[in-house]
Amino acid sequence: MIRTAGLQKAYRQAEREVRVLEGLDLEIRRGEFVAIMGSSGAGKSTLLQLLGCLDVPDAGEYWLDDREVSKLGPDNLAEVRNRSIGFVFQSAHFVDYLDLVDNVALPAEYGPSTDVDQHRARAIELLQRVGLGHRLDHRPSELSGGERQRAAVARAMFARPRLILADEPTGNLDEENTRQLVELFADLHEEGITILLVTHDSDVAAIADRCYRLRGGRLENLAA
Ligand SMILES: Nc1ncnc2c1ncn2[C@@H]1O[C@H](COP(=O)(O)OP(=O)(O)OP(=O)(O)O)[C@@H](O)[C@H]1O
Ligand SMILES: [Mg+2]
Repeated sequence: MIRTAGLQKAYRQAEREVRVLEGLDLEIRRGEFVAIMGSSGAGKSTLLQLLGCLDVPDAGEYWLDDREVSKLGPDNLAEVRNRSIGFVFQSAHFVDYLDLVDNVALPAEYGPSTDVDQHRARAIELLQRVGLGHRLDHRPSELSGGERQRAAVARAMFARPRLILADEPTGNLDEENTRQLVELFADLHEEGITILLVTHDSDVAAIADRCYRLRGGRLENLAA
């Protein structure tokens, strides 16, 4: 599903340069669940941005689904991103003048279909699935933190991505809400979706098939 070779990324401001990824190699097979840990500033979010086609590497190769995305231009990158990848971040951003159903269906704006009833039906099905069937007409600001993260998972699933990238999705949650979200990821994994999850919580990382630590710009194997 994912293969990178020698991925490099640095941030430059004036004469200062922060080298973040220094020849990073990663291979994830279809349907695998992989966790990445690492200290703050190690480059975890930077890596997810590259893998999520939100940014491009300075050097190195990135293959997603047998396509070399490191060679694609901005339009093709956006297409790959919208079609293949779902994102869940530490704190989800929603559009607060829309109810939950319309928020979850928002990715439809970037898709080819214009069947609004069908989009709403799929959004409702996904919200029910993440346990928010009783909150369909609520505004995002009326949800608890745990409910918002589950809604974010529903939205990430909307376009039927084969890959979910999650950046500290449980970072703001208590134990019970973390447990619920972790179960949700485990369910998606069972369904065959490939998941790459960044976390500081070793209990969360423990549900993955494999776990890495990002350090010194590269990945080290961690015993799962
Ligand atoms: N847009 C940017 N411009 C300049 N430097 C950046 C930028 N984004 C990140 N950095 C720097 O790159 C390094 C890696 O940042 P990144 O956000 O990838 O770390 P992280 O592992 O996700 O950390 P955390 O666990 O705190 O989220 C940090 O030193 C950060 O200061
Ligand atoms: Mg980060």
